[in-house]
Amino acid sequence: KILILDFGSQYTQLIARRVREQRVYCEIFPCNAPFEKIQAFSPKGIILSGGPSSVYDKDAPLCDKRVFELNLPILGICYGMQLICQFFGGVVSPAQQREYGRSEIMLKNDIFFDNLKLSGNKLTVWMSHGDRLEKIPEQFEIIGWTDNAPIAAMKHKDKPIYAIQFHPEVAHTDQGDTILKNFVVDICGCKQIWTAGNFIHTEIERIRSLVGEKKVLCALSGGVDSSVAAVLVHEAIGDQLICVFVNNGLLRYREAEQVLKTFRDNFKINLIYVDAEDRFLEALRDIEEPEKKRKTIGNLFIRIFEEEAKKLGDFEFLVQGTLYPDVIESVSFKGPSATIKTHHNVGGLPEDMKFKLIEPLRELFKDEVRKVGLELGLSEDILFRHPFPGPGLAIRVLGSVDKEKLDLLRLADHIYIEEIKKAGLYREIWQAFSVLLPVRSVGVMGDERTYENVLALRAVTSVDGMTADWAKIPYEILGKVSNRIINEVKGINRVVYDISSKPPATIEWE
Ligand code: XMP
Repeated sequence: KILILDFGSQYTQLIARRVREQRVYCEIFPCNAPFEKIQAFSPKGIILSGGPSSVYDKDAPLCDKRVFELNLPILGICYGMQLICQFFGGVVSPAQQREYGRSEIMLKNDIFFDNLKLSGNKLTVWMSHGDRLEKIPEQFEIIGWTDNAPIAAMKHKDKPIYAIQFHPEVAHTDQGDTILKNFVVDICGCKQIWTAGNFIHTEIERIRSLVGEKKVLCALSGGVDSSVAAVLVHEAIGDQLICVFVNNGLLRYREAEQVLKTFRDNFKINLIYVDAEDRFLEALRDIEEPEKKRKTIGNLFIRIFEEEAKKLGDFEFLVQGTLYPDVIESVSFKGPSATIKTHHNVGGLPEDMKFKLIEPLRELFKDEVRKVGLELGLSEDILFRHPFPGPGLAIRVLGSVDKEKLDLLRLADHIYIEEIKKAGLYREIWQAFSVLLPVRSVGVMGDERTYENVLALRAVTSVDGMTADWAKIPYEILGKVSNRIINEVKGINRVVYDISSKPPATIEWE
């Protein structure tokens, strides 16, 4: 396995994903991780990430210097390269010309650059740096250069230490995957054995020996993460797992039905179904303020989950669908951020419930979770479903929420999603959904005047939900969706399309 030390680059997670794509297991530690922890992990090689700082700054992030004495292969990328340079006695200084974007690098023959398809020893790479190497450390030699950076790649003369100024992990670097493979497989000697099937096998063994004969509880939402986690744990311990699924009445069209069918009928999972629609709608009655809605829903969910857990007797373990991006202690240089929205999901359980956590997905990225899910036999319908907020449709019915409005929204949204799927756009869109607006407008149907609701359609593309662009859905498809909704959903006579990006808008409207 490979260890990645994070110096705060926005690409650190991408490095990890690229290494895993080579079927080599890796983890990310913050750069200042204690040396003992690094040793205990016993990696076969270490990658030093990029980062926004300058190595000559007073408070530049550093790693324990003993890392360089482990005699392990090391690859420094960007800031990581500059750190190696400084450690071994070279000189780093601000470049006269910063270099951002594509660049052509000339390469020397080296096993680090094996298997690349090159024309004239030139490779197109992605650069993003303001500092550059001015003087190479004595024990190193140059193996790559660009017009702007005479030392764009170097290696130690006697040790397997490599350093590059460009980013092999980003898609813009041509054949970056081959370069990373050369490092992790050929130079570090890692075996390419990390697969979904292997993962499932080891994880099942781990869960079995952890749990023994004890009972395990799981809050199932029907979302990708909790679904895969539940099926995996069920595979390990069968009926010792009890899932609780709370229908809050705020789910999508026929979603509760689908969850029951999948988990009860197909997977034969012991599932407690709690129909709490009335309680949620009662609690939400007349609440218009989005934050108040979120808190009400979050608190009520916790209360109901606790009631059910109490009825079921004692549990020692709780399953959570935590993913790797949530557990990486990233080296963040962002200041404290303001609360834009109080996020809540089924993970948001009370702190005083004393459970030991089972988090079978805590080492995986989302795409890996999907692979594991496929291997376990979950349907693509569930695995590739768009993200859905914990407070559900309550934050998509703007203003006060009631069953009638929810039903209207569910049906309209179902038509929208159906057409998006028919057009083959569902997978390339990060999230598509409808919002019922608290306004009415005048229309004409036949010879009759209508005075009915307005529905907004939203669709965005995004990689992580942090930023998003509105999706350029073809007009014909938007036209068809609008036609169908106005004809088929009684109560809606006008459909609009949301063309705002995030920021400054958010993905959800509330
Ligand atoms: P915003 O609206 O903040 O949404 O741009 C970003 C992403 O988060 C989802 N979202 C939530 N997810 N609980 C969740 O689990 C929540 O309370 C919540 N609110 C928003 C949203 O759907 C989008 O994918």
